[in-house]
Amino acid sequence: MHVAVVGATGQVGGVMLDVLAQRNFPLSSLRLFASSRSAGKEIAWEGGIIVEDLATADFSGIDIALLSAGKTASLAFAPKIAEAGAVVIDNSSAWRMDPSVPLVVADVNNHTVSAGNSGCIIANPNCTTMVAMMALKPLHDLAGLQSFSVSTYQACSGAGLAGVAELDEHLRAGAPNAVGLAFDNTAITLPPAEVFPDNVAFNVVPMCGSFADDASGETDEEQKFRNESRKILELPDLEITPTCVRVPVFTGHSMTIHASFAQPVTPEEATEKLATSPGVKVCQQPTPIAATGADETLVGRIRQSGESGLVFFLSGDNLRKGAALNAVQIAELVAR
Ligand SMILES: NC(=O)c1ccc[n+]([C@@H]2O[C@H](COP(=O)([O-])OP(=O)(O)OC[C@H]3O[C@@H](n4cnc5c(N)ncnc54)[C@H](OP(=O)(O)O)[C@@H]3O)[C@@H](O)[C@H]2O)c1
Repeated sequence: MHVAVVGATGQVGGVMLDVLAQRNFPLSSLRLFASSRSAGKEIAWEGGIIVEDLATADFSGIDIALLSAGKTASLAFAPKIAEAGAVVIDNSSAWRMDPSVPLVVADVNNHTVSAGNSGCIIANPNCTTMVAMMALKPLHDLAGLQSFSVSTYQACSGAGLAGVAELDEHLRAGAPNAVGLAFDNTAITLPPAEVFPDNVAFNVVPMCGSFADDASGETDEEQKFRNESRKILELPDLEITPTCVRVPVFTGHSMTIHASFAQPVTPEEATEKLATSPGVKVCQQPTPIAATGADETLVGRIRQSGESGLVFFLSGDNLRKGAALNAVQIAELVAR
């Protein structure tokens, strides 16, 4: 396959290159794209590949394009790349809710990838939705999901390289004083937050993204979680209550889910189902550090909640299954 990675100089783009190499993806050629800021840079891949400027490139000859360059670039360029004949697999939020675009979690709804449709766009879900789907779909198959509420603990790499840099800088700025200030029970003073709506270092911020443009009081991240989950699970009326929270973690999104089911289900039955579900690993104590670099989504702390409900904890690598790995898995389905 002739493959293009768009956003190759970003966080997801870098992991995309790792995943393509690790999974030995059948590449005939690889082209790398970014904005004019990075055009001309050389990326280490075999003999080295020069990054091309997306804005001025000729897209002919590409079979599969893996896009992770943000919503604006995707809205502008995904249709052009598709028109030139490629299957576009897009990581941004630009196309996810378009009814004509499949929203695919590999191992969850593979049937939505139709064969042989060159010149089309396929969307990758939000990295937080992805973690939840890996456990909720098998449990839905087991007992019929009726509703769920979720509180997330989202890593700063979810906001790209800029988010990681801000967490790193603020942790370094606060660390020398942390023990003394804790002893005095005094709050740490940090440089002003720029990437996030408040300081994430030494903190927990119940605000991922920005407020939605309505009177709900929800953020766009919370609404993405609900809308994308409904589309992937094919449950358009599913009741979902998300609260998305940013925590001082570099990589690995975690969450607690309280789910209600149509049929009674015990933690033992849920554990057995999840233990045999692809892409899922049941463990006692899922953490973002344990999830980082792993292909599987980690599930644990599975307990009963009411008569027909379960509560459980999940951690998944937002850059890997949450973005790059899932995109490459979709590319493998397309290639097949
Ligand atoms: N981070 C995650 O956990 C995650 C998970 C799922 C999905 N995503 C999505 O993946 C995308 C990238 O995220 P990221 O975390 O990798 O961000 P990032 O680290 O900020 O990287 C952004 C990449 O996009 C390129 N880019 C930006 N504007 C462009 C334009 N106008 N034309 C061409 N290239 C452009 C940048 O190139 P330059 O070097 O030229 O600036 C860079 O390569 C976003 O849509 C994000 O929502 C991210």
